Amino acid sequence: MIKLKEITSQPTVAQLPNGFQESKWLQTIKIILQPLQNLENLRQRYGDIFYSEFNSFPTQIIISDPQAIQELFTADPKLFESGSGNEIIQPLVGGNSLILLDGDRHVQQRKLLMPPFHGERMRAYGQIIRDITEQVSSQWTVGKPFVARSSMQDISLQVILRSVFGLKEGERYQQIKQVLVEMLNTFNHPLSATLLFFKSLQKDLGAWSPWGKFVRRRQLLDQLIYQEINERREQGKIDGEDILSLLMSARDEAGQPMTDVELRDELMTMLFAGHETTAIALAWALYWIHYLPEVREKLLQELNSIDITNADPMAIAQLPYLNAVCCETLRIYPVAFFCFPRILRTDMQLMGYDLPKGMYLSVCVYLTHQRPDIYPEPKRFRPERFLERQFSPYEFLPFGGANRRCIGAAFAMFEMKLVLANILSHYSLELLDKVPLQPVRRGIVFAPSGGVHLAVKEKLS
Ligand code: HEM
Repeated sequence: MIKLKEITSQPTVAQLPNGFQESKWLQTIKIILQPLQNLENLRQRYGDIFYSEFNSFPTQIIISDPQAIQELFTADPKLFESGSGNEIIQPLVGGNSLILLDGDRHVQQRKLLMPPFHGERMRAYGQIIRDITEQVSSQWTVGKPFVARSSMQDISLQVILRSVFGLKEGERYQQIKQVLVEMLNTFNHPLSATLLFFKSLQKDLGAWSPWGKFVRRRQLLDQLIYQEINERREQGKIDGEDILSLLMSARDEAGQPMTDVELRDELMTMLFAGHETTAIALAWALYWIHYLPEVREKLLQELNSIDITNADPMAIAQLPYLNAVCCETLRIYPVAFFCFPRILRTDMQLMGYDLPKGMYLSVCVYLTHQRPDIYPEPKRFRPERFLERQFSPYEFLPFGGANRRCIGAAFAMFEMKLVLANILSHYSLELLDKVPLQPVRRGIVFAPSGGVHLAVKEKLS
């Protein structure tokens, strides 16, 4: 049995010579500003399981070994907490968010939020996704550049507002859209993302200070959300198929409905977790498809085999090469580099190591997806690898796993496929970025630097 002491005797970040003997602060800044290089350096030096120390986070074990991930994901979920380790996003989503909950409350809330993202309801979302994609892309002009991430964010935000909130076009819809984008833009620069990591920087020093601006936008957004909740309640409109209706009509064991603050926090969670992530994945997909002409060719061949405009959305979602392109996009640069932390509620053994209660375990999606033993030539974008073999949920995990697995995974994949199929079958696009793009931090996720610059060469129909 390998004792924890022996892991401790492996070099830790703090003990390292040459550049790694830095303060926690410097380590944190480096991992925020140059995440890829730093993570890869750490893995090269310490292997698939190592300790690391970052500011605002307790000491944690970073894991990129599928066997260890399997042990973790198949263990009893009651052994871990995650919500308490996600405090960093509390300012965005509020304390009642699913992401911050643990134990029974987490299980109950997940049960409530899961069904609308599966099965028959998905088909209905297909038309919404198509309509919104057409509406947003119709604003593109031939020859005029546009930023893919912004356009994709416009699409994914509207998709969430209509399918999750059940909102119709109108003044409030436009206001929510605008304020939310501005609010998330507070963290759109790697440096401004540090605001989330350092609590000491979260000071409202007036309307022009970065945190002050964020707080004011959040207040405005809260007002808009509460107005929507009140209006629905007053008009008795809580029987719709959208998630807001569902949450408003839900009752707990004592027969009590969710409070307005609880409703607000779950709506913010869907908005926050659901739209920017999907938009970033779509921007990356458009980048790779236009960066590699052979990928575009192959995809067009497949898309041309069916009538995309009239096809059943489910038939589009089953196209094998389109699926492989989406998977490879999420493999090579996953939007979330890490799963939520798993914090040990009791002592545990993992891969023969004795780990003490309270230890933070962080599965690193990025490093797992970059393993050459699972993905030969990991830096190459090669969708074919997803046609040649199946990867286990411990090898390919862009949506995390076990009891915290992303509840929007099927929805996000569905949206990605429909948006891409629609755009590619109606527009011939050109990539304007001439150098390879790298992921940069946006808040707690990672997006292509510059957002991917594209231009319409030709409108096809
Ligand atoms: C490409 C898009 C997306 C990616 C890459 C992504 C990724 C992730 C990841 C890695 C986790 C953590 C899982 C874990 O720790 O095991 C997560 C959790 C979550 N995601 Fe997503 N997500 C995406 C889209 C969405 C969408 C569309 C929604 C909802 C509308 C959503 C809602 C959530 C929620 C609520 C959680 C928390 C689950 C829990 O704590 O039980 N995500 N997501």
